[in-house]
Amino acid sequence: MTRSPVERREDLKACFEEAKGCTRCPQLASTRTQVVFGAGNANADLMFVGEAPGAKEDEQGVPFVGAAGKLLSQLLEEVGLSRDDVFIANTLKCRPPQNRDPAPVELENCQEYLWRQIELIEPKVICTLGNFATKLLRGDPTGISRIHGQPEIRVLGRRAVRLFPIYHPAAALYTRSMLATLQEDFARLPALLELPPPDQPQAPEPVVHPEAVPEELTPNAVAEPELAIPAAEREPEPELTPEAPPPSDEQLGLF
Ligand code: URA
Repeated sequence: MTRSPVERREDLKACFEEAKGCTRCPQLASTRTQVVFGAGNANADLMFVGEAPGAKEDEQGVPFVGAAGKLLSQLLEEVGLSRDDVFIANTLKCRPPQNRDPAPVELENCQEYLWRQIELIEPKVICTLGNFATKLLRGDPTGISRIHGQPEIRVLGRRAVRLFPIYHPAAALYTRSMLATLQEDFARLPALLELPPPDQPQAPEPVVHPEAVPEELTPNAVAEPELAIPAAEREPEPELTPEAPPPSDEQLGLF
């Protein structure tokens, strides 16, 4: 379902509100300073998915603000893009202590937020940064060194997107020769964004069983659904009274 830009932002804010108090991973919930939900343009055609927040991100509540983040911004600028053009998220929304690797159970617990972000933002291209994001979104253990720089069309959730796995920028901080590889892969992004969006999977046709159509139904007749409750007997809709006022735009970083 395509949403208007305003609806997208509102839906993302609602998802952020939910994630903010998440305690699905008891250790991460007790050691984090805050949830790092994601930041950037909620209507972006290009989304990046990194691994997990580090110390700086945990402190500021914004992804990729440390050394790897500075390199990410530089790589974007080199191909004529800025952070305002893209949305940046991570596989984990909380910092693992001592920046250890995400545990499988943490990836499992947190992935719902990422899938919702992808569904709401509807990017044309998703660039996975490093092994964790690539393996999670491809649902496959193939390592990044075998498939970096090779775009492919993948159905993620209900939508087809161009998935573009590349090395994590932190790799170039440790292995300087990796920078050229990252720059080469980044250089492909503008052309990828120019491609038409991939064909979307067809929604399955509703199955109509002839025996289920009542005889008295003419083509113009409109039947009440069998289980519909007469309006007078329906429970009134519960009023939604949020406990806290909705977050301001500032609280959400850039988006
Ligand atoms: N590395 C990541 O994967 N994500 C961040 O937000 C920062 C560093």
